[in-house]
Amino acid sequence: MMQTFDADARTRFQTLYPETPGKLTHNLVGHPLFELDALIALSGRMRPVDVEQNIGNLPVGIDPEKVAHNGLSVADTIRSIEENGSWMVLKFVEQDPEYKALLDAVLDEIAPLAAGSTGPMLKREAFIFVSSPGAVTPFHFDPEHNILLQLRGQKTMTVFDPTDHDVVKPEAHEAFHRGAHRNLPFDEAICARGLPLTITPGEAIYVPVKAPHWVQNGPATSISFSITWRSEWSYREQYAHNLNAMMRDIGLNPGAPQRYPSQNLAKSTAYRAIAKARRIAGLDKPA
Ligand SMILES: [Fe+2]
Repeated sequence: MMQTFDADARTRFQTLYPETPGKLTHNLVGHPLFELDALIALSGRMRPVDVEQNIGNLPVGIDPEKVAHNGLSVADTIRSIEENGSWMVLKFVEQDPEYKALLDAVLDEIAPLAAGSTGPMLKREAFIFVSSPGAVTPFHFDPEHNILLQLRGQKTMTVFDPTDHDVVKPEAHEAFHRGAHRNLPFDEAICARGLPLTITPGEAIYVPVKAPHWVQNGPATSISFSITWRSEWSYREQYAHNLNAMMRDIGLNPGAPQRYPSQNLAKSTAYRAIAKARRIAGLDKPA
C-alpha cells in the first residue's frame, strides 16, 4: 500500500513536531472511505452523540450555547452539504473498524518520529469534518496533537501561539482541563498574530497541542480527516494546569506551565499524587 506521508512529508513532520504549526503533503486523496456515500454509511453506524452538526455561517468568536443545530438528519446534512450551509463533525471514527485500521496505518508511519520528543502516541482518535462552502469553525483549541488532512475543497486554518497570554490566558487552559467548552473568546485585537495556512486536497496541517485556531472554508464543499493523539508530554502539561487550578482555588497565583521541551515534572507529579490521594479518600471517582 502507498504510504500516506512520503519521505519529504515525514522529514517535514519531524522538523515541525511537536511545537510548530505548518503544512505537510499526503496521499489520501481519492480514498474510498471519504466519498460522500461512505460517510453517509459511516454516520448510520455511529452513535448520535458522536455526530455534531451546526449551521455554518458563524462568527469567529461564539458562545457554544448560541451554536444552532441545522435541523437536518445526519444523512441529509451530508447529502445536501453543497447547499445547506453547515459544518459537521463525525467524532471518534476510530470506533469503526475500517476507519481505525486507516488511522493506525497512517499514524504508524510517523509514530517513530514523534517518539523521540514526546514518547509513544497515546489515545489515537480521528474526526471527519464535512463543511459547506464558506462555513466557519469558531475560534477554539484542542487537547491533542493533530494533523488535519484535506481531501476535498479548500480551507484556511489560522493558528495562534499557545504561549501568547494575550491570545489565551493560563486560566482558560485550566478551565478547559476542568471540562469547559473548547471555544475561546476571540479578541479582534489579536487577529493579526495568527498564522493563516491554506490547504487544498493533498495538503495537511500539523497543529500543536492547544494551539488556538479558527477555520474558514473555501468556496467549495470541504472534507477533512483529522488524526490525533496524546503524548506523555501533553498529559504532564495538562496535569500542571490542573495543579495550578487547585492552587488558584486556595488563593495562590501560580506561574503558567511551560511548553515543550519543559516536562512540567514537578507539578504533574504533584497533581498525580494529589489526584490519587483524593481517589483513595473517596473524594473523587477514578478518572
Ligand atoms: Fe480544532
